[in-house]
Amino acid sequence: MVALTISSVSKRFGEIRAVEAVSLDVADGEFLAVLGPSGCGKTTLLRLIAGFERLDAGSIHLGDLLASSDAHHLATEDRRIGIVFQSYALWPHMSVAGNVGYPLRVQRVRGSDYDRRVAAALETVGLKGLEERRPAELSGGQRQRVALARCLVMEPRIVLLDEPLANLDVHLRAAMEEEFAAFHAKTGATMVYITHDQAEAMTLADRIAVMHDGRLAQLAAPRDLYRKPQNDMVADFIGQGSIVPAEVSSLLREGRCTATLLGRDFVLRCAPDQRQGPARVCLRPEDLVLSPEGAIRGRALRVTYKGGVTAVEVAPEADPAARLQLTLPDDSAPSRGDPVRLTVQDGWVIPAA
Ligand SMILES: Nc1ncnc2c1ncn2[C@@H]1O[C@H](COP(=O)(O)OP(=O)(O)OP(=O)(O)O)[C@@H](O)[C@H]1O
Ligand SMILES: [Mg+2]
Repeated sequence: MVALTISSVSKRFGEIRAVEAVSLDVADGEFLAVLGPSGCGKTTLLRLIAGFERLDAGSIHLGDLLASSDAHHLATEDRRIGIVFQSYALWPHMSVAGNVGYPLRVQRVRGSDYDRRVAAALETVGLKGLEERRPAELSGGQRQRVALARCLVMEPRIVLLDEPLANLDVHLRAAMEEEFAAFHAKTGATMVYITHDQAEAMTLADRIAVMHDGRLAQLAAPRDLYRKPQNDMVADFIGQGSIVPAEVSSLLREGRCTATLLGRDFVLRCAPDQRQGPARVCLRPEDLVLSPEGAIRGRALRVTYKGGVTAVEVAPEADPAARLQLTLPDDSAPSRGDPVRLTVQDGWVIPAA
């Protein structure tokens, strides 16, 4: 397959800026997740890539092929893009093989070439033997695989998926996540996978593009998004945790600094070009531990059993309006209202905007 290059792409619907100056590269064979809250522009971005929408500014390349610019618009059928929707969009009256072969019939592929390509696509997704079934005679997961085979059969340049698991129950979702991972490993497809489920994005993707209000908030590997969010939106949207004000006092060796946080000094992680002065710090639940000598005093406000661990929300004495989240093993959790002492083991200084 090929790489995808999106350069400064914008799309408006009247006054609504659905996609605003988004640039991102997806490498050949990469699995990119596009993650963000409802209405942030994910589907619009996918529809621009597929050619269902014309862009207002910027350009989209599929490998070396210019697909969209303000002056040029390649028709969807000439982009050779595989698309899997949430609803699968299978033809109920056609067999599995008939559904998978449908895009080839549209392209007037016939005879042994047709048979070979349909058989290969069914083999890849593990549906051999089910060729004559109708969609109604399949499980949700099998239907999803028919949709994948149907998009593979036309040897797409890239595969786009818009919330393909949103209709499934949580057990089937987990099974299908494994299927997508296996599909990706087997085909080496360049995949753009839209979801608003961050656990799904973290599990599957090489990198995640977080969108917010039509803009790209951050593009990074899952671990970096979690550990080094580049702005408050990503810090708040990805994972659990707290954002607290701090004062960076000195820069240590690259990537570390000392900062005063809730009246105490700690060594934290920061960007290499972090400056001294006021800042905001992202503390993940595992960055905070209870300890009798802990420098931060506070009170447990909420204690919630989560199965195996207990989530505790602490109001620190130094700033009673702030909230610190931590997770603890059941047997060490305080009760609601208890005084507690905390140590900050780690934390990330969010870069200034
Ligand atoms: N055809 C359209 N006409 C007018 N506004 C639109 C159109 N399509 C999308 N929008 C608006 O553009 C913005 C982005 O919509 P989009 O469907 O891309 O969001 P999304 O991130 O896919 O959301 P969701 O997670 O709910 O699917 C929204 O404000 C939406 O109302
Ligand atoms: Mg959408």
